Amino acid sequence: MEQGEDEPPGKKSKISPQTDVRWISESGTIDCFILLGPTAAQVFSQYAQLTGYQALPPLFSLGYHQCRWNYEDEADVKAVDAGFDLHGIPYDVIWLDIEHTNGKRYFTWDSELFPNPGELQHHLQKKNRKLVVISDPHIKIDPDWPLYCEVKEGGHFVKNREGAVYEGTCWPGESCYLDFSSSKTRSWYARQFSLSKYEGSTESLFVWNDMNEPSVFNGPEQTMPKDAVHHGGWEHRELHNLYGFYQHMATFEGLLTRSGGTERPFILSRSFFAGSQRLGAIWTGDNVATWEYLKISIPMLLSLSLTGIQFCGADVGGFVQDPDPELLVRWYQAGALQPFFRGHSAKMTKRREPWLFGDDVTSAIRSAVQDRYRLLPYWYTLFHQAHTSALPPIRPLWVEFPNDTSMFAVENQYMIGGALLVCPVTDPEVTEVKVLLPGSDVLWYDTNTAAVHKGARTLDLPVTLNTVPVFQRGGTVVPRRAGCGSSTADLQQHPFTLTVALDSKGNADGLLYLDDGHSFSYRDQMQFCLRRFTMRAGAPKTAVTFEFDAKRGVLTLTGLDLEIHKDWEIVI
Ligand code: NOJ
Repeated sequence: MEQGEDEPPGKKSKISPQTDVRWISESGTIDCFILLGPTAAQVFSQYAQLTGYQALPPLFSLGYHQCRWNYEDEADVKAVDAGFDLHGIPYDVIWLDIEHTNGKRYFTWDSELFPNPGELQHHLQKKNRKLVVISDPHIKIDPDWPLYCEVKEGGHFVKNREGAVYEGTCWPGESCYLDFSSSKTRSWYARQFSLSKYEGSTESLFVWNDMNEPSVFNGPEQTMPKDAVHHGGWEHRELHNLYGFYQHMATFEGLLTRSGGTERPFILSRSFFAGSQRLGAIWTGDNVATWEYLKISIPMLLSLSLTGIQFCGADVGGFVQDPDPELLVRWYQAGALQPFFRGHSAKMTKRREPWLFGDDVTSAIRSAVQDRYRLLPYWYTLFHQAHTSALPPIRPLWVEFPNDTSMFAVENQYMIGGALLVCPVTDPEVTEVKVLLPGSDVLWYDTNTAAVHKGARTLDLPVTLNTVPVFQRGGTVVPRRAGCGSSTADLQQHPFTLTVALDSKGNADGLLYLDDGHSFSYRDQMQFCLRRFTMRAGAPKTAVTFEFDAKRGVLTLTGLDLEIHKDWEIVI
């Protein structure tokens, strides 16, 4: 502003412009796009038109993932898998970190610890569970390893400024780095995931791309020197932020091609760029088992969600150090309400499978994970919305209540979709939490007690270790499954329920999206079901249960002890 607005005309005053942000480009022009909105939903969709929409995750990947650096051997994996069944905790995926390989040579197995990887995957697959293995971008320098020789001969490594292959250290020791910026290298890498090339892999193996910033232990700022040279003569300084994105892209291509283009890939990546949402999931990297880290996982994931990276999560329990049992429970409760839900722990930490801390802890974790599974029809519907209209599944309160400026700074609560307000407990020894319920004309239904509260108030909510504060907004319908089973596949045996929360006028509506949960037939053959449920009430009933036969597309009412008002109109 050059002239004060209240200044008499003609009089000039010097007001220095306020500068909040500076951008400096080290390597050329900055492309700047201004998205005009004006609503948040419009900005999300404008941004997605530029960078792409969230990939629709396979349903299993929205279940719970169990990871550790490392599960020791095949017997250990099977024992942990059995532990989930024994303790009635659903889960879908078990993960293997770097120690499963032969000396950190990705695409190989340690033949003593994992002599029968195919059999291990079949064992898991019989229970409809999957295996995820790690594949990092560095390749061990080992002239006796055919894969290393093939990469070298194929010219697929990043070079140094002198034109020789760039060498740096990472987990395997002296390593070279694949040049994912080259489409030829990406195709080569993608081919390594074919079932014939990747020995011991099956269709139920999925992938984790780690250390792809790229991490170079002895490099400047622990990464690659800026003057390292990529395909086409581009310096690393130009491509640094794209390196992980391109590895993620190559892995996506690999899993897609493996199935002949029919199955949706699942890949977790640590590094990402604008557009990584098209390729899979992202996690926030190495966190610490402290309350502070649990707390910040919420704004971190909300920020990622706003920037299009909507399938995101943080290591449940904290990666480094050992969580005490209370922190572990609270972390599971919070993680169950976040898009990507994976427990993970570092090598030196104590084992922390959910049943190792006594019955109270096991039961609190079981209940959080089971609630997540029951809510998966809603999560999946939200991911369909993210995939088609870019609305993030988790949203800061201001996205839903943009006219209330007091929402702008709230970062301990958020919305899952438009219907559920959640306020995970992130402090120790808490007996009460303050929950901000927005909107003077909104009714909020406590999903734990069914108590109804008017909005525009702060509620003092009593909590125990088992309480997860979740409120359903009046005017919405939330689809769930009536039970949870032992995996997302098992979940399909349970009928749907719809929880209808009426607004003050007695109306409610909501969506349910269904498809086969794993293939692209929803896109290529239009094989999906999208139903809107609209309730018009003449009487103040707050909940009713329906059964939905997905195969036949039939909706039936159950739980008829709940009286259904004759004026309710069900539109499917
Ligand atoms: C760093 C990753 O962030 C962590 O999750 C992983 O366990 C270790 N690398 C070892 O692979």
